[in-house]
Amino acid sequence: KNFLGGVKMSRERWSSRSIFILAAIGSAVGLGNTWRFPGQAYQNGGGAFLIPYFIALVTAGIPLLIMEIAIGKKFQAGAPTAFRKLGKKKGFEWLGWWPLATSFAIVAYYCIVMSWTFNYLWHSLTLAWTKSSSADFFYGDVLRLSDSPGNLGGLNMPLVIGLVLTWIFIWFSIRNGVKSMGKIVKWTVPLPIILLIILVIRALTLPGAIDGINYYLTPQWDRLKDINVWAAAYGQIFFSLSVLFGIMVAYASFLPKDSDVPTNSMIIAFADCLLSFVAGFAVFGTLGFLQQTSGTAIADMSITGPGLAFVTYPEAIAQLPGGLWIQVVFAFLFFLMLLTLGIDSAFSIVEGIVTGLVDKFGWDKKKTVAGMCFVGFAAGLIFATNAGLYWLDIVDNWVNNFNLILIGVFECVVVGWIYSAKKLRNEFNEDSNMKFGPWWDFMIKYVTPLSLLGLNILFLIDSFK
Ligand code: PFF
Repeated sequence: KNFLGGVKMSRERWSSRSIFILAAIGSAVGLGNTWRFPGQAYQNGGGAFLIPYFIALVTAGIPLLIMEIAIGKKFQAGAPTAFRKLGKKKGFEWLGWWPLATSFAIVAYYCIVMSWTFNYLWHSLTLAWTKSSSADFFYGDVLRLSDSPGNLGGLNMPLVIGLVLTWIFIWFSIRNGVKSMGKIVKWTVPLPIILLIILVIRALTLPGAIDGINYYLTPQWDRLKDINVWAAAYGQIFFSLSVLFGIMVAYASFLPKDSDVPTNSMIIAFADCLLSFVAGFAVFGTLGFLQQTSGTAIADMSITGPGLAFVTYPEAIAQLPGGLWIQVVFAFLFFLMLLTLGIDSAFSIVEGIVTGLVDKFGWDKKKTVAGMCFVGFAAGLIFATNAGLYWLDIVDNWVNNFNLILIGVFECVVVGWIYSAKKLRNEFNEDSNMKFGPWWDFMIKYVTPLSLLGLNILFLIDSFK
């Protein structure tokens, strides 16, 4: 019986192991791989970024992913309940709510990026952004995004409509919990991967592509001295793997108790990083082409924030050889890819929050889903104003870098020291073909938290310099 005296239902379950893996990959692979990762690589030293990125993956991404999936499976509950059960004096529930609060901030802006995508998809039918320039389209005529803080007035209707569509899509995908999610991810995982492969082939066969690839893979070593590059790499890994948001805990809580945690986690991490790396070829190949047609060197394109996928890439599409039809097709495919990539990440965030609330308060899941969709939509409206881009940048920078890293430190301390990393490892090793050695405990207890802590201190010092 639950605390209201009703009969406790048995927990929802993924219909199979592969559906869980697909759903987790769906959450991990999203705008972060195709929009955020190449942008971060561009801003943080091209090929040099790949080094901190890989180090962040091994020292923090993979150990934490395994930890969160192991916790979710073990306690069969969303993050707040799982962390409450994990501490001896049950005092760590806050460590479950913190990631969920972070998720909420993220989903509000993630959905506005989905809304931009809806708008671009619609306008790709006429290549509307070629009428002036793609920058005018984005910042001026149509989406009217500006990055000045004062301009909160005026909701932009196209953005609001895109936001409504996004939230309806999210609600539809998770309205019946794990069951409906399972059906959606069968489409939203393979389809964008196929589209990405088409875009990579197109990009690599464009004139000038090789210069872009050289830019992508040639390290600017001096950038490694910059602490922001390292903070960005860790932030990107967490964002990309969807760890430290309580999502993987929630998803794993629907796994049977004898599931294989390490193998599943490694598949998810590998798929996610591979797709980011591959997406880099599509983006940088295209930048190389743009360099040739526009005469502006890649390094001087000064692409910041959202500019890459929403300004520079559309501009390149408008110059593809083969005429208008080809350009329309590639524009449509690109934005369809972004949309289908992003949707299962967006709904995973909502599902993570809903699972946390339902497990803690015993609320009705359907009503909680509907309520969350409404609240998330309302919160996202701030990003649909003229100052949307300004707020997005602030939230993205602080929430993803400083805040996430701090959550990581606390999770490591609580799980590694208070619960015991060794105990958790023995538990997940029992059901796995892939046995992890004591190096994992060493990571969770020392390497991950200390590197994250050091990083945050340096990041703070740098921010206030
Ligand atoms: N991992 C997703 C991406 O790379 O696009 C984004 C994301 C999903 C971030 C879920 C956070 C999250 F909780």
